[in-house]
Amino acid sequence: MLAPVRPGRYAGSMAEPTPSASPAFRPDVLTVPATPDADGIIDAMGGRRALRTPAQLVNRLVPTTWIYESLWRVRSLGLLSGRPVPVAEELAELDAAVRPGPGMVAVDVACSEGLYGRHLAAQGAAVYLVDHSRPFLRKALRRCRTEGSLERVTAVRALAQHLPFADGSVDAAVMGGSLNEIGDRLVAVAELARILRPGGRLFLMSLVAAVPGGTSSRGVRVGQALSGPSGIAFPTPAETVALLGPHLRLVSERLDGVVLRLTAERTPTGTPAALR
Ligand SMILES: C[S@@+](CC[C@H](N)C(=O)[O-])C[C@H]1O[C@@H](n2cnc3c(N)ncnc32)[C@H](O)[C@@H]1O
Repeated sequence: MLAPVRPGRYAGSMAEPTPSASPAFRPDVLTVPATPDADGIIDAMGGRRALRTPAQLVNRLVPTTWIYESLWRVRSLGLLSGRPVPVAEELAELDAAVRPGPGMVAVDVACSEGLYGRHLAAQGAAVYLVDHSRPFLRKALRRCRTEGSLERVTAVRALAQHLPFADGSVDAAVMGGSLNEIGDRLVAVAELARILRPGGRLFLMSLVAAVPGGTSSRGVRVGQALSGPSGIAFPTPAETVALLGPHLRLVSERLDGVVLRLTAERTPTGTPAALR
């Protein structure tokens, strides 16, 4: 059995929050009881059902977790952008965007194996790994245990559209490659804006529509055109940026083929309302 994540960090009223070893401990982040189950996962689905598109169903299969990060994730951006994009380059951009370190509270939403979140935890941040796929969360925790960061992560099973975190409670929110299949993107990004503190940073990597004449191959364009029934969508860069809404200010934007990376900062004023 996996070692349970430490309890703590919740704003519930039924039990005392347990102090965390993390220097980033804040008792007011989670809005559900921080009670990990036998897998070491806090289940915050609250009876909500995940979407059942083919892409979403595949991500809930255990065999997908055997190959996702080690075989696909590490190669995919290069294949899709038409030039090599080493994971190290992507993680350097993530670092520049959110400036991780001890004392930071970060959330990796729709994390799969937690590539971004694990990287932030390795630098001392306290990280919530969020996904609706239990097999992926189990795999993420196994990786954290191997990497020695288990005590700095908390695995939460939740929908991106219903994040169990208080308004303005986190310093950084990250999402890699998930907007394309997540369901309601507008609500998901509004949730990221809601949970970020003023001045908090968002780093988002998302795949956008290939344009004829761009650097992406014909195969990528054909693949995108055929992907509709799988539940994966490819908005344009402008449509993706527009999702930021009034409470996230675009700081930087980089497009390589169909791979868009955005850094945004939560505006200092206003409280984004939950859109759901
Ligand atoms: C492309 S993978 C994510 C990759 C990961 N962020 C990375 O950088 O390696 C998409 C993930 O989103 C999760 N997911 C899809 N829709 C979701 C939703 N509405 N709420 C939470 N997780 C979702 C899937 O289970 C899957 O793990």
